[in-house]
Amino acid sequence: LKKITQRQAGKDRAIQQAAVLGAGIMGGGIAFVSARNGVPVRLNDIAQAALDQGVAEAKKLLDKQVLSGRLAAEQASQVLANITPQLDRSGFDAVDCVIEAIVEKLEVKQQVLAQLEPQLAPNTIIASNTSSLRIDDIGAPLQRPHNLVGMHFFNPVPMMPLVEIVRGSHTSEAAVAAAVGYAVKMKKTPIVVKDCPGFLVNRILTAYMRGFLQLVNDGADFQQVDAAMEAFGWPMGPAYLEDVVGMDTGSHVSDVISAGYPERMPHLEHDALRLMAAHKRYGQKNGIGFYRYE
Ligand code: CAA
Ligand code: NAD
Repeated sequence: LKKITQRQAGKDRAIQQAAVLGAGIMGGGIAFVSARNGVPVRLNDIAQAALDQGVAEAKKLLDKQVLSGRLAAEQASQVLANITPQLDRSGFDAVDCVIEAIVEKLEVKQQVLAQLEPQLAPNTIIASNTSSLRIDDIGAPLQRPHNLVGMHFFNPVPMMPLVEIVRGSHTSEAAVAAAVGYAVKMKKTPIVVKDCPGFLVNRILTAYMRGFLQLVNDGADFQQVDAAMEAFGWPMGPAYLEDVVGMDTGSHVSDVISAGYPERMPHLEHDALRLMAAHKRYGQKNGIGFYRYE
């Protein structure tokens, strides 16, 4: 990976200014990590509340770092100044990369990116933080699919080192290299993966989550399963992790994976994830999922 970065991510493609579409759980975290590592970001959302929350979370993390002596107060102010929350897309024509972190629905991503593309400079990279959708599918309506690459971060973004860099069949080597270089700049561990539903990690994680949902369907108590998996040594059990991810995102990912691998991971009917998403119990993002959050 280092070789790709040095050989191909020439200075002209190094990411120096970025934008993030969607200031939710992932977009807010990506904007923070980018700004914290010296790449200013324009953070765009259609909801002012999401922008406010994204900036508030960044401020909370920075305050903690200042209090513990890891960061000077002036540096914290500079990081915060490097995040520009905005409801419009002004200045997007001057960024080197736009990271898309909106809902995990193919038709929405296609529509939003096709509308975005003409607002960007011809070389600007579009990086999708999709959890499971194929980059080739997301890029189908684009004029410049060679600029589209996957940059799949993990939740919570400030803490999780891995980033899957997804190479679609049209993705240029320069776009892959620029995404790898950007991830390294954010102090992450990039791996380049093939373009298939769920990439590497979610093909494994979805199978685990399905195992859990089937146990619950069989009558298992989700709190006991969580306690068992924690005692097994994992940082949290599957029910709590579903709450962290969000039931809406989790059920969209599950649908993409079952459509992609119908024999290995067939569609699950009436699982707890789908049931809760239908009842708007989205998890931590709205305070109620498997558990309640104050
Ligand atoms: N955002 C930012 N920082 C956070 C955080 C959050 N949500 N949660 C915890 N932290 C920080 C804390 O502030 C603390 O920082 P300091 O050291 O600076 O004080 C540090 O993490 C440790 O906090 P804790 O002691 O409370 O937590 P921990 O040590 O038990 O571990 C963790 C935190 C590493 C995030 C751990 O909970 C973990 O490994 N979780 C697993 C999460 C996971 O599996 N994510 C993958 C989800 S699936 C996905 O992302 C893919 C997809 O496509 C859906
Ligand atoms: P989220 O619901 O927390 O946030 C999505 C945000 O996008 C919302 O604030 C929404 O208002 C905004 N948005 C919607 N349409 C928009 C538009 N046209 N322009 C600008 N903003 C718009 O979702 P999330 O959990 O952050 O997931 C976002 C993406 O990241 C999805 O593709 C998801 O699969 C992926 N992802 C999620 C996780 C996770 O654990 N939640 C982990 C890795 C990847």
